[in-house]
Amino acid sequence: MSTMPTSNGRRLTVLRGRSLAKITLSLHVLGARADGYHDLDALTVAASDPYDDIALYRQAHGTTVSVTPKGAAPTNAANNLATRAVELLRPHLPSDVPGMRVRLTKRIPIGAGLGGGSSNAATVLGMLAKHYRIPKRVVAHAAAKLGSDVPFALGGRPAFMRGRGERLEPASHVGVLHLVIATPPFGCATPAVYRAWDELGAPRSDRVLDSDLVVGGLRNDLEPAALVVAPELASFREALAAATQLPPILLGSGSSYAVIVEDADTAAAIASRVRAALRLDAVWAAATVGS
Ligand code: C5P
Repeated sequence: MSTMPTSNGRRLTVLRGRSLAKITLSLHVLGARADGYHDLDALTVAASDPYDDIALYRQAHGTTVSVTPKGAAPTNAANNLATRAVELLRPHLPSDVPGMRVRLTKRIPIGAGLGGGSSNAATVLGMLAKHYRIPKRVVAHAAAKLGSDVPFALGGRPAFMRGRGERLEPASHVGVLHLVIATPPFGCATPAVYRAWDELGAPRSDRVLDSDLVVGGLRNDLEPAALVVAPELASFREALAAATQLPPILLGSGSSYAVIVEDADTAAAIASRVRAALRLDAVWAAATVGS
């Protein structure tokens, strides 16, 4: 998340920020909780691409959102996490900011396991907190309220996410990783994937990627459930594995997958190979950030 205030010469008129995609390198689901959530132990990092751009403008009244391209995120302020973030901080905004317009330029696909909506919310919280000097505890409270992934997105550093995701422990041993991320032309609804995980009897994924980042290796326990919710994920994963000759990791509750590669040049070369082989635009060469 970054912010850049722009002045029109007299007074501040716009705040700009960037929301990064979330990459779940490993996701261990510990069990269902009484509140409907699940306890997790996940290793999560932010990636340089895809990302969304956010601009905040003061307006006469109300909180509204415009989205480019059309349809890439909800424009109903009650359903958009970015506008909900503004609303939660509204009591802490000065009286000369009667309303706010959020302009969202989306590149992070939704329903893709990349945490785009949560990242948008975190970016807005961070922009407003910095500009209006809102106390950290107010912002942290708003983040946890907005969603399980928002506290992570607010920090943006490699972290183990515990509890329902809101308890963070720095994962400072994670250096810069190079990745290729691919999103199929269909999404996975997170609540449906968790429900399927319950119905399958709390499975553990047996696809484990050897890694020194996590004891026991990287795995995503939601993968068996995501495959039930979106059976076409199986052929997508196979095609990605064939094009990269690497083991794909399911990101979050899906539908995106990533492979870890050795350097930026390899990431760029593999990303263009995947674009051609899968006839897919939603492919990114990225590096992890915040290490
Ligand atoms: O917290 P958030 O609104 O992002 O979660 C979306 C949905 O994902 C929840 O309503 C719940 O169904 C599921 N979820 C869960 N356990 C978590 C995180 C999310 O069951 N730790």
